[in-house]
Parts: sequence; C-alpha cells; structure tokens
Amino acid sequence: MTLDSSTNESILEAARIFVQEEASKHSDGHDWTHIQRVTALAVRLARHMGADPFVCELAALLHDVPDEKLNDSLEAGMAKLNTWLDNQPLLEPSTREVVVNIISTISYAGGQGAAVDSLEAQVVQDADRLDALGAIGIARTFAFSGARGREMYDPSLPPREQMTREEYRNGRSTTINHFYEKLFKLKDLMNTSYGKELAQRRHEYMVQFVEQFKQEWEGMDR
Ligand code: ADP
Ligand code: NI
Repeated sequence: MTLDSSTNESILEAARIFVQEEASKHSDGHDWTHIQRVTALAVRLARHMGADPFVCELAALLHDVPDEKLNDSLEAGMAKLNTWLDNQPLLEPSTREVVVNIISTISYAGGQGAAVDSLEAQVVQDADRLDALGAIGIARTFAFSGARGREMYDPSLPPREQMTREEYRNGRSTTINHFYEKLFKLKDLMNTSYGKELAQRRHEYMVQFVEQFKQEWEGMDR
C-alpha cells in the first residue's frame, strides 16, 4: 500500500466520481448517500480498530459496484469494477488485489453470516450492515418497501418462518416483517468490537421503534 497520501487522495477522488455516476443510475437504496454513510463509518471503524483507513475507504466506496441487483449478474458487476481498476495506474497492484478481495468476499457472502477474513473486510462489512440499522435503517426499509408497494404492517400475517416460499415470494410480507426477517439478526453478525457496540445501540433503537409502532397500531400507546 502506498504511503503517498496525495496519491491515495487522488485515487479516492476518482472512485467518488465513478461511484456517484454509477449510483445516479439507480434509486432503490443503493444510492450515493448510502455509499457516503458506509464510507464514513468504514473510516471511523478502521481508525478505531487499527485497520488500514485507505483500503477501507476505497473498498467502502466501491463495495456496491458489483451488486447483483444493479448488474446483470455478480460476475458482470465484478467485471465493471475490474475495468475501472484497470484504469487506475496510481493504484498499486497489491492494494488493488486486497480491495477486490474485500468486495468479492462481501458480495459473494450475500450478507448471510459467512466469515470474512481480513480486518479490512470485516470493517467494510460492518459499516455496510450498520447502515441497515438504527434510524437510517428504519428509514431505508420503509423507503424500499414503499417503492415496491409493500404494506407497512399486517398483524394477521404469520411470521416469515411459518410462510411457504410461494406466499413469501408473492409479497405476503410486510415492512415490519423485514425487521424480524433480517434487521434484528444483524447485530449478532457484526465482526468488530466497535461495530458490535454501534450495532447494539442501533438495534435497541429499532426494537423500541417496532414496539411503539405496534402499540400505536392498536391505539394502545402510552
Ligand atoms: P445492502 O445495503 O446491504 O446491499 P440491501 O440491498 O439488501 O442492502 O437492501 C437495501 C435496503 O433496503 C436496506 O436498508 C434494507 O433494509 C432494505 N430492504 C431490503 N430488502 C427489503 C425487504 N424485503 N423489505 C423491506 N426493506 C428491505
Ligand atoms: Ni451497501
């Protein structure tokens, strides 16, 4: 990894321009503001955990470029990422390899508990998961569901575990269900100690939100 900070800054600036341009083509939660928040968190976690801040920042900026939802396939997305990296002569090959490894482990792990090996990969994965939690996580989930015309809540629906695959696929799930399906599980999947600490606070905030939401739904809030 290069020690020249102005070189690093020019690579980061090129990445910001590329990713912002890519993100402007989509509007479903993989927006530029998600990338900005994840990147800020990744740098903060990196400093706290003693990980390489440049590697974490660059990987965080690029982490959603190969996302399956934004490309024909994960492979096509990785190819897009590699094409951009081919055009970064200032980036050392060893750093490039580290960054590609981080992004591919995170992408292929699909967010479902698969262990990531390096501290830098752990930091970037934690930062991405943190942005699904807390007040921002709540807002993103409702925005995502609203865009898909999904209902907020339906107390008569069975929990996800008791639904058939078909029922679930056919949209018989609600926004509130997503908290149980995914968001409440994330705090136990965090890698780093600092990530766990932040996730715990964001988790408690969401639990409180869902409790209050259900009370208000029944007109039974205190
Ligand atoms: P990531 O940022 O890790 O790529 P996703 O692409 O899975 O996250 O989702 C983007 C955002 O949309 C997240 O905040 C997530 O909570 C929300 N989301 C994803 N799937 C659903 C769903 N089935 N219902 C409601 N919200 C969802
Ligand atoms: Ni992401």
